[in-house]
Amino acid sequence: MIDSAETALHRALEMIEPEVLRGLARTDGGYVELLPNVPAPNPSPASIAMNNRVVAAIYEKVWRPFGVSVMGVAGMSMSAERAKAVADLRLNGPQRVLDVACGPGNFTRFLSEALTGDGLAVGFDISEAMIARAVRDNRGPRAAYVRGDAARLPYADGAFDAVCCYAALYLVPKPMTVLDELIRVVRPGGRIAIMTSCEPRPAPLGTVVGFGTGLAGVRMFPKNLFVDVFEASGLTEIEQEVRGLAQFVSATNARATERI
Ligand SMILES: C[S@@+](CC[C@H](N)C(=O)[O-])C[C@H]1O[C@@H](n2cnc3c(N)ncnc32)[C@H](O)[C@@H]1O
Repeated sequence: MIDSAETALHRALEMIEPEVLRGLARTDGGYVELLPNVPAPNPSPASIAMNNRVVAAIYEKVWRPFGVSVMGVAGMSMSAERAKAVADLRLNGPQRVLDVACGPGNFTRFLSEALTGDGLAVGFDISEAMIARAVRDNRGPRAAYVRGDAARLPYADGAFDAVCCYAALYLVPKPMTVLDELIRVVRPGGRIAIMTSCEPRPAPLGTVVGFGTGLAGVRMFPKNLFVDVFEASGLTEIEQEVRGLAQFVSATNARATERI
């Protein structure tokens, strides 16, 4: 029986692998800290913003809605995006969900509310400012937070029933490494859902947009890239929805590895 945010934090800690890393983790800030005294890297203007406390404070209500409207995710409110994530991840029971690059937990808590029983949603992010905000605004009986690097997820293969990564692959320095990690930690039969950028057509427009977003440190990805990578990784039930400069891609991990 789940009774408090403290219990959720403890359960999030218990999932950390390997054991030696779990032993070194701190939890005094209300989240699992895997990078004590290591500031988040600031490789681009977009990353600098994500590590800023003011941006973290206004992210959910101002920054993200503005960014999403620039991306042209036409007619889709954040609540519709959240409902889509829940549907694409097929959340409806005591599942374990990882929300990678969770920001201030603006999706994590909502995902956790779709769970029942021993279900747990773990929000994972590298920004201290974002994680502090997530703990403040969006923790709950089935929602807890971990600070670490998505390029090296501290979890066993197949540790999660579902993995979500919204609005982040275009910011990270090694998106394909992060994508490999997302796939690795989904159990066989589990679901993965991403939302990221999508290069516009025709090509000249793509070049102009790519130049502008490149200055900010935001990558534009070709439309077929994630579908192709998912297919090559043996994922099935792949669905893609393109909206303006954004793409939503979801899939099932059909690989036959065992959950550890
Ligand atoms: C735009 S926010 C997305 C928040 C939320 N998922 C959403 O859809 O609104 C991107 C997040 O990615 C995080 N991030 C960037 N690089 C990361 C990394 N290497 N590991 C974990 N999180 C990272 C940033 O700190 C930031 O909070």
